[in-house]
Formats: sequence, structure tokens, C-alpha cells
Amino acid sequence: MDLEAEFERAVSGEQRVEPRDWMPDGYRKTLIRQIAQHAHSEIIGMQPEGNWISRAPSLRRKAILLAKVQDEAGHGLYLYAATETLGADRGELTENLINGRQKYSSIFNYPTLSYADVGTIGWLVDGAAICNQVPLCRTSYGPYARAMIRICKEESFHQRQGYELLMTMMSGTDAQRAMVQESVNRFWWPSLMMFGPPDSESSNTEQSMKWRIKRNTNDELRQKFVDMTVPQAEKLGVTLPDPDLKWNEERGHYDFGQPDWDEFWQVVGGNGPTNAQRIAHRRKAHEDGEWVRAAAAAHASRRARQEGV
Ligand code: ACO
Repeated sequence: MDLEAEFERAVSGEQRVEPRDWMPDGYRKTLIRQIAQHAHSEIIGMQPEGNWISRAPSLRRKAILLAKVQDEAGHGLYLYAATETLGADRGELTENLINGRQKYSSIFNYPTLSYADVGTIGWLVDGAAICNQVPLCRTSYGPYARAMIRICKEESFHQRQGYELLMTMMSGTDAQRAMVQESVNRFWWPSLMMFGPPDSESSNTEQSMKWRIKRNTNDELRQKFVDMTVPQAEKLGVTLPDPDLKWNEERGHYDFGQPDWDEFWQVVGGNGPTNAQRIAHRRKAHEDGEWVRAAAAAHASRRARQEGV
């Protein structure tokens, strides 16, 4: 059997592909693209919430938020490490991000205007991330699947802290309840966009499903997210800003409206509300870290010389 046929057989038989296994170039490229975008999203995703660390309303909230933002950095690092097992170079991936050659999730191009946004991001954004990422624990590439297991555990904790924060605000004053509703109004539609374009416009889904990199289509996961979130919104006491949202007895799912896909493509194309700010901030952090990378490289080469490696 030729290598390609053997690979297809192994993948369709649910066997994991490991770094030293033979794999088609397209499979390797698709994985590097998806995992790098995912890693970039975790790293850029530190910014919107990081914005509130110095203004958290209590020491407890500040400690939680700090820990959460640090977790996102850790997720980014596991994922960059997973791309390295495919032969990618982490430095090049960072260059691709700050030069706009690689994407990151559209959701992080929206500003965080109130403290309620910290709760809403935990509930809706991390909730959407979990829906998308739990199936990726069964993705065909071993290092990615294993990274996802730990990431999902932490995301699930993040989601609960967001929901708990919002619950606390909802049991507060009218002004706090209004702040939560306003935040949910802003984040609902961008959260639905996180799953990617409708299946009919998703250029990568068909092949990625065949290779079992993706385990569900974008629309399937979006539906799952809506079904999971509506009862949570009811319990919380907020209204989701979609007049078309209603239970469909026949389908056994909620019907819902479509996000503004023109806005989605604008944001993906670099023209969202905070794209320029996010990239400028990431570029500055990278440049400011140059001396750390130089020192680490000098230290590593001195050690290698001393040990005669
Ligand atoms: N934001 C930015 N770009 C997106 C988004 C999005 N929400 N959704 C899709 N795109 C891009 C795709 O990257 C693709 O562009 P490319 O071919 O130039 O790379 C294009 O739009 C068409 O989309 P699809 O063909 O549907 O892309 P794909 O099959 O990669 O599916 C998805 C997109 C669902 C996001 C997939 O890549 C995935 O599951 N990734 C892993 C999870 C992830 O990256 N999460 C990040 C946010 S979660 C968090 O960080 C907390």
C-alpha cells in the first residue's frame, strides 16, 4: 500500500498521527495553519482582559483575572510547541502574526468597555471556545489532541468564573444588571462568529473533516453553542439580542438569526474595531522582549560549549 493510502486508512480508523509518522504535505500545512492561528488567538486574547487587571474591583477578582490571563499564555505556549513538532519555527510564526500574514480569532478584535466584559468573555467567549475545542481532543494529530485536553479543563474553569462573575453582578444593583445586559448585547454576535463562516463558505472544512483534524463543521458547533447557552442566559436573567431565537420542537434545537457576515469578513481582513491596536501591542511586546531572547540564546550557547555539545 502506498504511504498516502496507508495514512488515509489509519486516520479513518481513528488512529492518531504522531510527529515522526509520514503525513501528506497538505495535512501538515493545514495543521500548522490551524494550530498557529489557535496559538495566536490565545496570545492576542490576553489583551482584552488584561486591560482590566489593574482596575479589577477587588483583590479576589484581580487574583482570578491574573491567573486566567496567565493560563491563556500557557495555552499559547503549548500550542506553539505542538506546531514545532510539525517542523514550524515559533519565531517565524510570531513574525507571521505581527506582519498580518497569519490570522487569529476575530473575537479578540472587539474592545472591553466595562468590567462586565470580563464575565461575558468568560461565559460566552470561553463557552464558545469549549464547544469548539472539546471535539478537538479527538483530533487526529496526537500532540494537538493532547494539548487540547489540558486546555479544555482550564477553559471550563474560565467559563465558570465568568458565569459566576455575571451571576454576582446580576444580584447587585440595577446599574450592574444593565452593565451585564449591555455587555452581552455587544458580545453575542461576535461569539457566534468565532465558529467561522457558514459551512457553505468554509473553504477548509471538507478536507479538514476528511483528515479528522476538525470533528464537526462550523454550523454544527454554532448550533451546539446556542443550544447550550440559551438556558444559561435564562438562568442568569439576561436577554440574548436575537429576535429570531426560539425553540424548534421539530428539530429539537433553537432556531437563531445569522450574524452580520460582512462584519465578520471585515474583522478577519484586519479592519475590526481593535485589530491595529492588538497587533501594535503584540509587536511592541515582541520588540521589548528582544533582549530576553538574546540573553537566553547566549546562555544556551555558552552551556552547550561548556558541555561540549
Ligand atoms: N476568526 C478569524 N478567522 C477565521 C475565523 C475566526 N473566528 N473563522 C474562520 N476564519 C478564517 C479561517 O482561518 C480561514 O482562513 P485561512 O484559510 O486563510 O486560514 C477562513 O476564515 C475560512 O474559514 P474555515 O475554512 O471555516 O476555516 P477552518 O476550517 O480553519 O475553521 C475554525 C475555523 C473553526 C476557527 C478552526 O480553525 C478551529 O477550530 N480552530 C481551532 C480553535 C481556535 O483557533 N480557537 C481560537 C479562539 S478560542 C480562544 O482562543 C479562547
